[in-house]
Amino acid sequence: MQDLDLIVREAEAAFAAINDPDALEQVKARYLGKSGQITELLKGLGKLPPEEKKTAGAAINQAKVAVEAALNTRREDIRRAALEARLAEEALDVTLPGRGEGRGGLHPVTRTLERIETLFRSIGFSVADGPEIEEDFFNFTALNTPEEHPARSMHDTFYLLDEQGKVAENVLLRTHTSPIQARYMQAHVAKYAGQASMPEIRIIAPGRVYRVDSDATHSPMFHQVEGLWVGEDVSFADLKGVIADFLKSFFETDDLQVRFRPSFFPFTEPSAEIDVAFMSGALKGRWLEIAGCGMVHPNVLAHAGIDAERYTGFAFGFGPDRLTMLRYGVNDLRLFFEGDLRFLRQFV
Ligand code: PHE
Repeated sequence: MQDLDLIVREAEAAFAAINDPDALEQVKARYLGKSGQITELLKGLGKLPPEEKKTAGAAINQAKVAVEAALNTRREDIRRAALEARLAEEALDVTLPGRGEGRGGLHPVTRTLERIETLFRSIGFSVADGPEIEEDFFNFTALNTPEEHPARSMHDTFYLLDEQGKVAENVLLRTHTSPIQARYMQAHVAKYAGQASMPEIRIIAPGRVYRVDSDATHSPMFHQVEGLWVGEDVSFADLKGVIADFLKSFFETDDLQVRFRPSFFPFTEPSAEIDVAFMSGALKGRWLEIAGCGMVHPNVLAHAGIDAERYTGFAFGFGPDRLTMLRYGVNDLRLFFEGDLRFLRQFV
């Protein structure tokens, strides 16, 4: 049956010429499909005399197996070639240098804020928060700041406009974080109303504040961390101890002096400015003003509903931007808020 060999060789050649899997299946039909050449031969077996049937049948089956084998080999070759082509096309060169995406880092002022929070938490303070768009009452009135006080004037405070474009009543951008303390005291009193005594208040209030001010040491937006400790026996001596310890820890040196210089704030009495002087380094011997503080004014306690005969407290307010400048030796405050990466990268 030499035409069987011919069919097999023809099929092998046909398969070999094809590179596409779908086309291969179509060519397969020519030999093994319903009316393919091999199938037709098998169908014709019935017409053969019985003695020829057996040998002819065996020969045709052998051819069928050969064609199927050729088909499978070609299928496999096409599949492997396709895979290799894809691997070559999608190859990654793992030896190429990376794109060098920056990892980012914390802003120097954020570092200072976190550091201050950690230090105060370690002596039992918690961290309180409040709105940056504040009510006039909490920013000024509750803090014993009278109507005619200059801090309330248009050139010191950012007020907001209402829908008609008029200055909105009762709201402003907070000028300090003291309103957080006013809010906290009020909430604290409400929480323990009707009880024989209330637990101590010991909080710091960090956040952004706003004033109409702009030069190398003032930015219209800056940060404050204010602190408040109210209890039955809180004295100015406690204030001095807390502040002196904090500054030594913050600057990691015992080599500094702290001075409390009498001053005035509406919400504290007596009040003081806190100055610090380093005994070594570039700033050696210079007194630098870094905070305001004082004993909470009885009117402020009264506004919050606290009995000023029974409870006393101290408050202080630091400028963490200024602390950051001192700690890192930065001489222009504006650098912190310009977003220049050449500056910011130095702190990462
Ligand atoms: N709130 C004051 C300011 O912004 C700082 C301060 C806080 C002073 C607490 C005394 C006590 O200037």
